[in-house]
Amino acid sequence: MKLPPHLAIKNNHLYINGLDCVALAEKYGTPLYVTSEDRVVEQFGSYKKALGSRYPKVQVLFAAKANGNLALMRALAQKGAGADVFSSGELHLALEAGMDAEKLLFNGSSKTPADLKLAVEKGVKVSLDSLDELHQLDAVAKAAGKEAKVSFRVNPALKVPTHPKIATGLATSKFGIPHKEIPAAYREALACKNIRPAGIHCHIGSQILDIEPFARAAEVMMRIVKELTDIGVKLEFVDLGGGLGIPYHHDTDPALTAEDYAAKVVPIFRAGVEACGITPELWVEPGRFLVADSSVLITRVNSTKSAHKRFANVDAGFNLLIRPAMYNSYHEVIVANKADAPLTTEYTVTGPICESGDILAPDRKLPEIVAGDIIAVLDAGAYGYAMSSQYNSRPRCPEVLIRGSQAGLMRRGETVDDIRAAMERPPWQ
Ligand code: LLP
Repeated sequence: MKLPPHLAIKNNHLYINGLDCVALAEKYGTPLYVTSEDRVVEQFGSYKKALGSRYPKVQVLFAAKANGNLALMRALAQKGAGADVFSSGELHLALEAGMDAEKLLFNGSSKTPADLKLAVEKGVKVSLDSLDELHQLDAVAKAAGKEAKVSFRVNPALKVPTHPKIATGLATSKFGIPHKEIPAAYREALACKNIRPAGIHCHIGSQILDIEPFARAAEVMMRIVKELTDIGVKLEFVDLGGGLGIPYHHDTDPALTAEDYAAKVVPIFRAGVEACGITPELWVEPGRFLVADSSVLITRVNSTKSAHKRFANVDAGFNLLIRPAMYNSYHEVIVANKADAPLTTEYTVTGPICESGDILAPDRKLPEIVAGDIIAVLDAGAYGYAMSSQYNSRPRCPEVLIRGSQAGLMRRGETVDDIRAAMERPPWQ
C-alpha cells in the first residue's frame, strides 16, 4: 500500500515519523491518536507556497473543526496560519494558540447573540449567513461602539462529487445566501451603520477529489466580485473555502496536491480581480488536507470471532472515529505489529460500542489476527477526535503529538471521573 512520507513499514512494524506505533501503544496505552506535527506543517507549507507563488496576498485559514487540538493549532499559528472558526469555542482556542485575530473568520449558519458579541469584542471578521444575522450583528456592534467587518457566505448552487452529507454548496443546502440574492444583501449591509462589508465567502463541500468544482465555484465568485465592486463594495478578501480531498483509498484515489488546486483556481481569481482593478487578499480554508493523513488511530484487538464472517473486535469504535459509521467512509487499516505479513484473511474490524453500525473497516484482507494485536487506522487526523463522543460512558483516549523524533501528549486520556465531573445531582434526589 502507498504510504505518505511520514509513515513507513520497518521490521514488520508500522512507524510514524520514525517512531514505532507498537511501542507508542505500549507506552501510552490504547486506544490512542498519534499525530505527526511535521506532516501538518509540511501540508500547510505546500498550500501556502502553491497559492503564494501565484498571487502575492494569500491567507491560509485552517478549518479548526477538522482538528481542534491546541497544540496543532499552535504549530500552525507559528507558521502564520489563521483559522476558520465555527463557534466561540474554536475562536477562543485559535486566539489562545496564537493566531492573529485579523486572520480569523467566524463562520456558521446559526450563531448565538453571545457568538456575535465575542466576534465584535475580539475584532474578528464574521461570515454572515442571513440578513437576520446581519441586523443582529449591526446592533451588537452598535452597542459595543464598534464596526464589524463582514462577508456573506454565498450559496453557489453547485453539485459536487462527494458524500451528500458534506456537500455544502448545493442550492438546497442550509448554508449561505443564494448567489442571485447576494448583491441585494450587500446593498443592505452597506446601509448598516456599524457594518463594513469587507469580504465574500463560499465553501462548496468537503472531500472533493476533482479540481473542476473548485474552478466552477471560483468563476461564480468572481462574477459576484465584479457585481459587488460595481455597487461600491470595497473587498479586502475573497475566501474560496476548503474542501480539497485526500486519497483515503491509498492505491486508487487521485492524490491531488495544493499545486493542482492553485494552478487551476488562482488564474480564475487573478483574472477576476484584475478585471475589477482590485487586489483583495485570497483566503482559503483547508481542514482535511492539512491534517487528515497526519494521524493514525491506534487500537488493540480485544478478541476475534468467526461467525458468518470473521471479526476483529478492537478497543476503538465510533466513539473515537465516527466517519465510517456516519458517511460509510473508508480508512485504510494496517496491523501495526504484523505490517509485513501476508494478507491472508478477511476481517471486519469492529468497535466496542453497542450498535451494529460500529464498524471501523468492513471486509479487509489482513494478516491472521489474534487478541493483543495492534491495528492502526490511517488518515484519522481530520474529523476524528474532533467528532468523538463519550457514548457508552467511554472516556476519550489520549492524543500524542510527534515532532522530529520527540513524542509528547497533546491531550491526556479522559477518565470516568471526567465524565462524572460535569454531572449534577438534581435537588430532589
Ligand atoms: N470552511 C467551511 C465553512 C467548512 O464548513 C468546512 C468544513 C471547511 C472550510 C473545511 O473543509 P475541508 O477542507 O476539511 O474539507 N465531518 C465531515 C466533514 C465536514 C466538513 C464540514 N465543513 C467528514 O468527516 O468528512
